[in-house]
Amino acid sequence: MSTDAIRQDESNERRKESLETQPRFRLFVEQVTRLADAKGSGWVGEKAEEDWLTQVSETAKALVSVDDWLPIAAAEPHSDHYQQYLLYCDPQERFTVTSFVWGPGQRTPVHDHTTWGVIAMLRGAEYCQRFEPGTPMRLTAADLLREGETDVVSPASGDIHRVANGTDGEVAVSIHIYGGNIGRIVRHVFALETGRATDFISGYANVDANYRGYASFADRTI
Ligand SMILES: [Fe+2]
Repeated sequence: MSTDAIRQDESNERRKESLETQPRFRLFVEQVTRLADAKGSGWVGEKAEEDWLTQVSETAKALVSVDDWLPIAAAEPHSDHYQQYLLYCDPQERFTVTSFVWGPGQRTPVHDHTTWGVIAMLRGAEYCQRFEPGTPMRLTAADLLREGETDVVSPASGDIHRVANGTDGEVAVSIHIYGGNIGRIVRHVFALETGRATDFISGYANVDANYRGYASFADRTI
């Protein structure tokens, strides 16, 4: 085995470890936890939410500025649909961190979140279209999110979108931070033509939505 191959092998082993022992990710969780502790039980007014989203976005931007920490099993695409892996759930369910993995050509339906969210692009790109309710629903924006960039969603400032892999045939990976436990929140998918909303609960690809703390990918086959 060449030196490069050995180094790659060691790197792969490291990336299979529990996220609890991954320094870069652990620092990120500790920073968001401190922000949540400081925020307390809620916001008063839109300005406070804006400040919160800015703080979380800056922290997330630092996390995705280096792509050396995500376990390979948390970036594994599914052949038929996008994947959402839980990386961390705050013990008090104040926030969750997930990896979204898009195979080539994969996309979400039009959906909402009913909570705040910060999206940070780790690998590749995402194409995001925003909509307003209506019959039919109205497209209000379309943007490409590139590596290192962040986006936000919130019921106050725009919560309905459709997201697709924005690369030309590559796997794309983004890190999402949401208020609450996004895997068990009841939210909605929308029919574009009629605006009709249907309830859905996303769950996670790797663990039950009752899971708390750092997810471990150490024993997952890749
Ligand atoms: Fe979304």
